Amino acid sequence: MKPLQQVLAEADQQKVAVGHFNISDLVALKAVYAAAREVNVPVLVGVSEGERDFIGVYQIAALVRSIREQNSFPIYLNADHTHSIEKAREAAQAGFDSVVFDGSALPFEENVTKTKQAAAEMRAIHPSIVVEGELGFIGSSSSIHDKIPEDMSPMTTPEQASEFVRRTGVDVLAPAVGTMHGMLKSMVEGQTKKHVDPARIAAIKRATRIPLTLHGGSGTDDQGFLDAIEAGITIVHINTELRVAWRRGLESALAKRPDDVVPYKLLPDVVESVKQVVYARLRLFNRSLKSASAH
Ligand code: G3H
Ligand code: ZN
Repeated sequence: MKPLQQVLAEADQQKVAVGHFNISDLVALKAVYAAAREVNVPVLVGVSEGERDFIGVYQIAALVRSIREQNSFPIYLNADHTHSIEKAREAAQAGFDSVVFDGSALPFEENVTKTKQAAAEMRAIHPSIVVEGELGFIGSSSSIHDKIPEDMSPMTTPEQASEFVRRTGVDVLAPAVGTMHGMLKSMVEGQTKKHVDPARIAAIKRATRIPLTLHGGSGTDDQGFLDAIEAGITIVHINTELRVAWRRGLESALAKRPDDVVPYKLLPDVVESVKQVVYARLRLFNRSLKSASAH
């Protein structure tokens, strides 16, 4: 199996993005794998600190590894939004392929110091681990908001990005380029969309020359994704859209079978609902590939 670093380098070169989908349970994991298998492209499964507290750090590592090995399929695992060095170490010890060390809410100097330290400690445990750093706070919750969070940072500048990457040695950078975590109600209803700043992405890419991640992808317009990928985005994170699909799938399954108590009869509708979102996003992120191939 190709190491994740190589998958990212190839995506970068081909001007496609690797889809990163957050999950909290086996239902969503099944959906992500099924969609990636159908589109036949590599995929990243993400678990934030809250998501991995629920599912279990070693348990999700074992699940993803078993899917990858049993099916020879390029599915990778990321420890998303990791705020402490201790949690970063734990993920490296459990065999995660990558870690997002998230110091985006800290002052610049503190973010540099902590991210650099986390990178060194993780690489001492797992030398080929991919380390992502975050610069620019875009809100913290993949949920449905009434309004745009007030404490968001201004967008990242190419100068800050270049200094951050040089001083921390991260493999991947997540800059703030117009999106936020979560969705407004109007976005869930499809009335409004998030917009990215492709010129800023291109300038950050020129200044850093490493893969860039777009966080807060849910609710972004399709053309915005394509422009972002063209400008230099290599990983796109989607969470809230999957959570909305998970809930809607469950509501519809319960409504269709009001007296059923058998989980494996109810939950396939939830898998299908989440899978449709992942499938559509993966098709879009890999649009420039003439014939998508996972291997
Ligand atoms: O790390 C996860 C994401 O950045 C997801 O953001 O919930 O807005 O899709 P989202
Ligand atoms: Zn994120």
